[in-house]
Amino acid sequence: MKANAELRRRIDAILSEMTVEEKIEFSAGDDTWHAPSLERLGVPQLMMCDGPHGLRKRVPNADGVYETVKATCFPTASALANAWDASLCEKVGAAIAEECRAEQVSMLLGPGMNIKRSPLCGRNFEYYSEDPYLAGKLAAGFIRGVQSRGVAACGKHFCVNSQETRRFSSSARVSARALHEIYLPAFETAVREGQVASIMHSYNRVNGEYVGESKTLISEFLRRRWGFDGFVVSDWNAVNNRTAAYKAGTDLEMPPTKARKAQLLADYRAGKLSEATIDASVRRMLQFIFTHLPDAEKRPFDADAHHRVAKEAAEECMVLLKNCKKVLPLRVGEPLAVIGGFAKAPRFQGGGSSHVQPTRVEDITTFLAEENHAEICFASGYDEQHETSDELIAEAVEAAKHCGRAVIFAGLPEMSETEGRDRRHMRLPEAHNALIEAVAAVCPRTVVVLFGGSPAELPWVDKVPAILHAYLCGQALGGAVARILFGRVNPSGKLAETHPLRLEDTPTYGFFPGSGDACFYGEDIYVGYRWYDTRKMEVLFPFGHGLSYTTFAYTAIEADKGRVTVTVKNTGKRRGKEVVQLYVHALPNAVTDSYLGNSSFGFARPEQELRGFSKVELAPGEEKQVTFLLDDRMFSVWDEACNDFRKIGGDYELRVGGSSRDLPLRAVMTADGSDERVPVITENTVVEDLLLDSRIPKEVAEELLTAVLPPERVATFAEAGCNLNNPCLRGRASAVLRQYIDWRGGALSYDDLHAAIDRANRRLREKK
Ligand code: BGC
Repeated sequence: MKANAELRRRIDAILSEMTVEEKIEFSAGDDTWHAPSLERLGVPQLMMCDGPHGLRKRVPNADGVYETVKATCFPTASALANAWDASLCEKVGAAIAEECRAEQVSMLLGPGMNIKRSPLCGRNFEYYSEDPYLAGKLAAGFIRGVQSRGVAACGKHFCVNSQETRRFSSSARVSARALHEIYLPAFETAVREGQVASIMHSYNRVNGEYVGESKTLISEFLRRRWGFDGFVVSDWNAVNNRTAAYKAGTDLEMPPTKARKAQLLADYRAGKLSEATIDASVRRMLQFIFTHLPDAEKRPFDADAHHRVAKEAAEECMVLLKNCKKVLPLRVGEPLAVIGGFAKAPRFQGGGSSHVQPTRVEDITTFLAEENHAEICFASGYDEQHETSDELIAEAVEAAKHCGRAVIFAGLPEMSETEGRDRRHMRLPEAHNALIEAVAAVCPRTVVVLFGGSPAELPWVDKVPAILHAYLCGQALGGAVARILFGRVNPSGKLAETHPLRLEDTPTYGFFPGSGDACFYGEDIYVGYRWYDTRKMEVLFPFGHGLSYTTFAYTAIEADKGRVTVTVKNTGKRRGKEVVQLYVHALPNAVTDSYLGNSSFGFARPEQELRGFSKVELAPGEEKQVTFLLDDRMFSVWDEACNDFRKIGGDYELRVGGSSRDLPLRAVMTADGSDERVPVITENTVVEDLLLDSRIPKEVAEELLTAVLPPERVATFAEAGCNLNNPCLRGRASAVLRQYIDWRGGALSYDDLHAAIDRANRRLREKK
């Protein structure tokens, strides 16, 4: 979103006319939903609204928070992610932006792109995935869609905002690796590939510092390294110290507060804030305003067309988790028991600031009846409070017996998935579990359809033959559920998160949501499948899993330098879509796994990491090739010592298939460590690091050790060579260089040691 020369001139002209007081007015919005404006100099007032899965524009002067204009409610991010399709996100984003334009809204407060770290986070339904690569690609698609219609998108909540408990004060204690490998990359992709116009900083602190005040996160990473040239807005009421936030690069406070503007002015007058800092921010605001002017008049959008987009999205998002004995698709023309209050009042979105007033909602039972052309017996099974009774269960059991087959609608109630609150457990309501157990006991052909934006424990999983997860699929879910159950649509959704067996298995168990404000991210980089796969744990349904009514065969793989080409064939009888997934597994020479007990130089690496995906549609018998391009980042880890990513040279196994636990195609490729930073050797460098760090040439390590070791060992050293089994080093591999000063009893001085180290460092640099 670079300003062109003419716009720059206009902005310069306005800025030169503005008083300092007026500039400070630009540090916050005009009110809760409006950017700052300045009539005197012709700067109009622009509106911003939530988001993200539909427009949430408050009805003027309305009392209730849910009184918003009618808008199409699309699948929430956690559902949309199951389509693994950035172009679908783009289409949904474009449709939402058209509704923004129709309502003269210039910025949509979304997408939400935080990492689903624990299934308990109350806002998981608003987020895409546990995997940063997938979350980033999908968010970038959504942003491109929104911005293609001239509306600004706002990536939120930057960053490490993966819980709701104590969200205004909590501090995520996160390692540098987890920060850079797990929590930041989706935002980086949103900036680099989505060119997002705005970023919303989160409420929480990261390692003790409020994000809005973090120069490192905002000025260094977001702006300098990733090239973000849009504006940073605070989450609503997230500002702690406005002057500190301004200095760190936070441009806009929302909603505005008089007290903070006064504080800024006082700090400016006291010389604590420079005019140049203020100007830079005002410039960014003006650039946003003049590139996102609303339409002069409201004009209606095509609600039918958008409902069709919502329907298409819903059909792509649902995940067939289980289908034994070909219970699905349902045969047409037989009686069907439809059980569960959710069939009449389905869950299709979550609670809080993303809540949309849908233009319409599809009733599932109507669509089931339309598809079935036969008797439908409805039994509610549980009441609105999600409680059941002997009578309600008996009625459901009778309906199932009478029809000989049943579909039960169950899942998480809205109460448990809402902004500002985390879940306490991973269970479904007791009533839902009891109902499913009772019906499944008398009706072998029982299908469960689940709703919810996060995984739940399913104690009855082995007792029902089929489960369809509908997530929170937006207003057009009714028809989508019916068409999938009856096979008019072949399901193709794949889980964008692992469904664990039980809460105790999850990576954050025991320390989510933290003690008071201290939230220890003890699982480190092992989030989601990175945790379960590295530990070889059994899960309920793995990351990337999703069944189809057809079958696919993975028949060939070819890896050549930066390209991997695989062949996939539809071996079944129906047309279908498959999400082809590529994971990278570091072989031992690309990792020294200190995490698993072999403590030596190196970086612990998860068992495998998603590095590519592609959705293909295949007719029966058809075969297609899919090519993935690999880049350096895919083989890199965050190296705290270099404060940057570092590509680790070595061998990697490329694994391709239809889920993280079903990867039949394998190929090995060697990556060079070409972009590695030059290491710096110090007196506290560990001996084994000298020998194992592939960036340190053997001759440099050898010369240094020869200067450090006692003379009687040098001869042996020269013979045995520079390796860890060298008898000269036995027991000393974990020593740091300076310890030889102690061990050599005065024969090695600090000066000698430093001279040898300086020589080694010089040689490393010369080599570079
Ligand atoms: C939420 C944001 C939202 C904002 C405005 C905040 O409480 O965290 O996601 O955009 O309110 O409604």
